[in-house]
Amino acid sequence: MQTSAEERDIIRKILELTNDDTTHMLDEVMHNPVSKYTDPAQLQAEMDVLFRNFPIVVAHSSALAEVGDFVTHDELGVPIVVTRNDAGVVNAFYNVCRHRGARIESEPCGNARRLTCPYHAWTYDLDGDLRGMPQPVGFDGLDRDDRSLVQLPAFERFGLIWVVPSPQDHDVDIDAWLAPMAEHLERLRLEDHVVFRTWSLHKDMSWRLALEGFHESYHFCSAHRDTACSNYLDNQSLWLNLEPHIRHAVPLPKILELRDQPEDAWEYRPNFMTQNYVFPANFVQAMTDHVYIHTIIPTGPGTCVFQCTMLIPEEPVTEKAARYWEKNYDVVRVVFDEDFTIGEGIQQGFTAGVNTDVVFGRYEVGLHYGQKAIDAALSGEIVCP
Ligand code: FES
Ligand SMILES: [Fe+2]
Repeated sequence: MQTSAEERDIIRKILELTNDDTTHMLDEVMHNPVSKYTDPAQLQAEMDVLFRNFPIVVAHSSALAEVGDFVTHDELGVPIVVTRNDAGVVNAFYNVCRHRGARIESEPCGNARRLTCPYHAWTYDLDGDLRGMPQPVGFDGLDRDDRSLVQLPAFERFGLIWVVPSPQDHDVDIDAWLAPMAEHLERLRLEDHVVFRTWSLHKDMSWRLALEGFHESYHFCSAHRDTACSNYLDNQSLWLNLEPHIRHAVPLPKILELRDQPEDAWEYRPNFMTQNYVFPANFVQAMTDHVYIHTIIPTGPGTCVFQCTMLIPEEPVTEKAARYWEKNYDVVRVVFDEDFTIGEGIQQGFTAGVNTDVVFGRYEVGLHYGQKAIDAALSGEIVCP
């Protein structure tokens, strides 16, 4: 695959920085109040804005491969059901019956032509329209068109299913929203990948701490001394601020070999891990040969759920391939545990009230950009178009 202009610029910049024996740095350190990680009012504002008005990844496209496939999703604090209709289009609804409010689908996933409420058996089609009810005479005069399931903006882009978890008063323009990331996401060809593993972890730490683990690489050679450290150049990341998204490029040591190669021989993917923050809750973490999709959601002040999908380019056909991916999975679980153990410890310190602020170093660039993006969205400066 041809190296994009953006990728070439990243490589050029990394080589310049390493030649100059320095790293990507901002002018000043930044102080962030601990209350942002602990205050229930802060969290409520984040839930109301970030987790209601912006697209969040709820699944890989393969989870809805066939017409009638559905998945349910509850971690966002609202019950959601996502379906694929007869035309192959993805729809999302509140998973709530329009008769007297029962939960409609209770399975995590499945296939159905109709969504049937377990309480009195009202049925809805895959577009959420009310199609039937037992003994309809009792509802004479009711406008059925008015009792469709409540629809949520839902999109399928780059092999991922995105849902905005509350109805919006405008048509969400997902393409404009993802535009700064589009070329890069497109090139990952996630729609051709298969899911190797998915997992979900509830942690006693602010969702922000889970995000922050992906925003800098300063911690790799201490927190991940025996795991990730040697795989990457130490604290040599480069960030593109795509406001509010962030492309965080972490070079592998072998990138230094590109110094001796002509630019048109440069390849990006084999030389980088890229931790792409897709605002507000997702990371698309591209390794050299596979990808993790992370969704990080607050479940309370100081608690969160971390959902991860490991995508690989094709089904492992040999035992050797299966072992290879299994090993990658085992390592990443260890690496994330290293992060989460530290994150939970940080949250305990926050609760103890020891520090009133945290400080972001000049080369912890993603932390600065990420915090500013959250602040801008909470103040209404950044909205989803
Ligand atoms: S609440 Fe769903 S059919 Fe009555
Ligand atoms: Fe980490």
